[in-house]
Amino acid sequence: MDMPTISLTMEELAEKIRDCQKCPLSQTRKKAVPGEGSHNSVVMFVGEAPGGDEDREGLPFIGRAGQLFTRILQSVQIERKDVFITNIVKCRPPQNRNPNKSEIEICLPYLESQIALINPRIIVTLGSVPTKCLLNTDDAISRLRGQWFPWLGGIKIFPMFHPSYLLRHQEATPGSPKELTWRDIQELKRMLSKI
Ligand code: URA
Ligand code: URA
Repeated sequence: MDMPTISLTMEELAEKIRDCQKCPLSQTRKKAVPGEGSHNSVVMFVGEAPGGDEDREGLPFIGRAGQLFTRILQSVQIERKDVFITNIVKCRPPQNRNPNKSEIEICLPYLESQIALINPRIIVTLGSVPTKCLLNTDDAISRLRGQWFPWLGGIKIFPMFHPSYLLRHQEATPGSPKELTWRDIQELKRMLSKI
């Protein structure tokens, strides 16, 4: 992955993403989901791909997992409008299957451009797919989450569990995904307060 120099504005880039026809997902999507939030955010959140609700509205993380994600942010007084939220793949894969290697590769330049334009200090990867892709590793998310990884351009990557994983594992006992996520979001907040 390299960091491009960008001549587009965020809005022009979003328009390009909405019109994109570069991979087969463009044939089955309703709306592409470029992402939303602050273009000056010090932190970007990168999920996997839009689901059904996101595909209908063209907005990221607004379905059931997205509502949980919003509450996780609110639990440490982070407002959605103050951060930038997007996905590694901008169009919904049919039946919400994982995006494949080729779809990720074709879509990645859009994320790279968003990172170059926003210039965040921190990228939080949500779940296994964006974490493995950006860190170029096959390690399990359960081993990577909650740790800081130095990345390109002085950016730090902080992997967390995906909110839909938390919906499938509701228990909040010590060491459970939910409890670990509570610790992770507090660690993120701690780091943000130092920046
Ligand atoms: N899951 C994701 O990874 N991204 C979304 O935008 C919604 C659900
Ligand atoms: N598997 C994933 O893809 N994401 C998680 O957050 C946990 C398990």
